[in-house]
Amino acid sequence: MTPQDDVSLLAERLRAASRVTVITGAGVSAASGIPTFRGAGGLWNSFRPEQLATAEAFARNPRLVWEWYAWRRGLVARAKPNRAHEVIAAWSARFERFTLVTQNVDGLHERAGTRGVVRFHGSLWELACWDRCGGAPDGWTDESDLGEVPPRCPHCGGLARPGVVWFGEAIPAAALAAASAALDCDVCLAIGTSAVVHPAAGLVAGAGGRGAFTAEINPEATPATSSVDLAIPGRAEEVLDRLEVLLCPAGS
Ligand code: OAD
Repeated sequence: MTPQDDVSLLAERLRAASRVTVITGAGVSAASGIPTFRGAGGLWNSFRPEQLATAEAFARNPRLVWEWYAWRRGLVARAKPNRAHEVIAAWSARFERFTLVTQNVDGLHERAGTRGVVRFHGSLWELACWDRCGGAPDGWTDESDLGEVPPRCPHCGGLARPGVVWFGEAIPAAALAAASAALDCDVCLAIGTSAVVHPAAGLVAGAGGRGAFTAEINPEATPATSSVDLAIPGRAEEVLDRLEVLLCPAGS
């Protein structure tokens, strides 16, 4: 079967579906110029996660960690959602029940207009008090250029931390519950994720276990490739565009 046949098969499944769940990773933002973590040009080729994306790293050197996050915020602020984000946003308005669970912290899905995004790993645009001072227990939104790093908690004057989930930290309970509920669906797609970071990596198999048709869209094979019902080797922005043409032919 050619990849084009695979895209048609997935379009058929989506046409018949009312409950759709999409799980995204960094590959969805690659066409917006945001580097992925793994693979060619991936951030983890040049930086070590344990020096930048753990609570221990922050405790050791908050300035270094904040410089890295401030750099990423700057990159994302200059980027625009791409065709993959746009198609997913359109689906969020079209399917009877649609859930997007994203591991991405860049906010590009929200900027494309996707409704009800479940942010599994938090957001680059959220900050929280490192000491959990209670002035803003759930953190706050800050889309500024931050100025001097590390930024401070406006409530207690202590250190603020990025509102993201670091290695070794728990997924926010509400995100976990929403993602778990979304595994009861007709079609579950994993798009642009290397499927190596748990618990996100287990979601698509979880949906399959509950009877969903599962598919992956990724130019590279991942640990999930052999277990999904359909693996489409391609870029998110191209495959989703082709799918959308099949689902919504011009003029229909
Ligand atoms: P990764 O960087 O691990 O994987 C990105 C995936 O996207 C790879 O499998 C690529 O093959 C694929 N890819 C690249 N370009 C693509 C394109 N145009 N279309 C579709 N796929 C493409 O990113 P994640 O799986 O999101 O966590 O990483 C998971 C977590 O690990 C992140 O949330 C982050 C990271 O460390 C934390 O920081 C806690």
